[in-house]
Amino acid sequence: MCGIVGYIGSRVATPVLVEGLHRLEYRGYDSAGVAVLRRGRITVTKAAGRVRDLRERLAESAPSPATVGIAHTRWATHGEPSDRNAHPHLDAEGRIAVVHNGIIENAEQLRAKLVADGVELVSETDTEALAHLIAAELATAPSLEDAVRAALRGVEGTYGLVVLDRTRPDELVVARNGSPIVLGVGDGEMFVASDVAALVHHTQRVVFLDDGELATVSAGAYRTSTLDSRRTSKEPTTVDLVADDYELGGHSDFMRKEMYEQPEAIARALRGRLDERFATAHLGGLGLDPMALRAVKRVKFLGCGSAYYAGQMGATLVEELARIPADAEPASEFRYRNPVVDPDALYVAISQSGETLDTLAAVQELRRKGGLVIGAVNVVGSAIARECGSGVFLHAGPEVSVASTKALTNMTVSFAMLALLLGRVRDLSAAAGQRIVTGLRALPERVDEILAGESEVERIAKRFAHARHMFFLGRVRGWPVAREGAQKLKEISYVHAEAYQSAELKHGPLALIDAEMPSVVIVPEDELLAKNIGTIEQIRARGGPVIAVTNADLPDGLADEVIRVPRGEPELDPILLTVPLQLLAYHTATALGRDIDKPRNLAKSVTVE
Ligand code: AGP
Repeated sequence: MCGIVGYIGSRVATPVLVEGLHRLEYRGYDSAGVAVLRRGRITVTKAAGRVRDLRERLAESAPSPATVGIAHTRWATHGEPSDRNAHPHLDAEGRIAVVHNGIIENAEQLRAKLVADGVELVSETDTEALAHLIAAELATAPSLEDAVRAALRGVEGTYGLVVLDRTRPDELVVARNGSPIVLGVGDGEMFVASDVAALVHHTQRVVFLDDGELATVSAGAYRTSTLDSRRTSKEPTTVDLVADDYELGGHSDFMRKEMYEQPEAIARALRGRLDERFATAHLGGLGLDPMALRAVKRVKFLGCGSAYYAGQMGATLVEELARIPADAEPASEFRYRNPVVDPDALYVAISQSGETLDTLAAVQELRRKGGLVIGAVNVVGSAIARECGSGVFLHAGPEVSVASTKALTNMTVSFAMLALLLGRVRDLSAAAGQRIVTGLRALPERVDEILAGESEVERIAKRFAHARHMFFLGRVRGWPVAREGAQKLKEISYVHAEAYQSAELKHGPLALIDAEMPSVVIVPEDELLAKNIGTIEQIRARGGPVIAVTNADLPDGLADEVIRVPRGEPELDPILLTVPLQLLAYHTATALGRDIDKPRNLAKSVTVE
């Protein structure tokens, strides 16, 4: 949600800024804007809609040769998506331009005070208030940085922001509190962004700001400090990402690319972490020695959406392999219900982006109450990764499509390793541990086999693409798989999909079964096979079509369609059973002509409540 780009150097700024915005489109937004500074004048161009609308608007006037500027993609929170509410926002004199991610919680009070002081506000946004506040502070502050610092003292909420002052063409001031800001260090030029995706085609040398930190950035240098004026010292780090990671590379869309990257992503997550000799896993980033691992009496996984479902798969794995109680809960519920924090529990905060506000808030609540919390995060340097300080990185590589595929898979793979490790410091035998190690090593090849069956899943998806509703059903290991399958379908195809525990069907939802209500039933080859076959029979007896997703040998004619998955170790079945459901959702959405990578109303990173 929302994206920030800033540039200062010797290149013409507008194309650099607009290209940066284009690279942030995947995050979700509904308007875009750019402000450039030249000869003491700030020129702002904005457009509701897509970055291409902004490009068209820019093409209506002569291109500016300005070499400094800021730009933004906005996901509406305060006020509708419109040209007026799009960022950048200016103060009354047009001296200060601001782009801002996050939410200013005391915006109403700040705006009311500005109006009482005679300021005419032209937008409905919280951000506009910042421009006026900073401009007012400039009357007495010795520098732009000091003015920003002073203005932010009265601001409550979250922000990542960049400020441009028409009287200071040689600097940008940036600040961060709860919304990421990263500086890109070039050769005689500097970039600013909310996400490295906007920078990596220019530079891989980056500086991540911490919460409560500001920076003054010029073409050849930067200096950082805290909100209370203490200097900080930040050396650039090199990110292990290249521009190609954000390109389609011959694929029609990012979801397809990312589904096909899964075998490689799994191999990356496993690399150097499996130990054949002791039949265990090494997860050095946890920072927990065997004694600390043995002291864990319970594991709780916290995440939102698909990350929560991955957590549910993780909880099943921990209970099965380590025999300690484990469960998963939506991070949003956890943070709001004044949770009892168990001093003997290990909490695992799960997030692809590392920015999801509800998950971040859950981590903060846990830390405040003294809970032991680790991260399972994909984006290095992200807010949740930093807040946790320890954990397991997912190594899925950048995920651009709103629908999570490879990151979710790597979450579950990582939890299998965590469960193995917790099991091996307890009673999981070396033989059982070795079986899991072997099963994990085989996963990339098994996923390749599933992807090779894409055309068959496509055929089935087309057969049922007319359905307005679908059930996804599973038991125990199959239950979070069913939830994730339903989530994927809803999210990108807009078909109403509901997940149920198979045994719950007869307690109510069975009334909905008829020829127009297909059910996707998850059938692992495990001790519940007969029960799952029974579920399918109950549905078909009432005229409901069934698609079985299975690695078992089902009786001929049991289901209308069967999607076959290769066999692996039973505990790891959820990982493999999830993959064909991605393909099913993908081909349903394609058959319905949906925008695969940018489903309506959704954003890749949900950084607001
Ligand atoms: C997944 O397909 C969804 N787009 C969504 O549920 C996502 O998993 C959720 O918003 C959590 O995101 P995170 O992993 O970046 O925290």
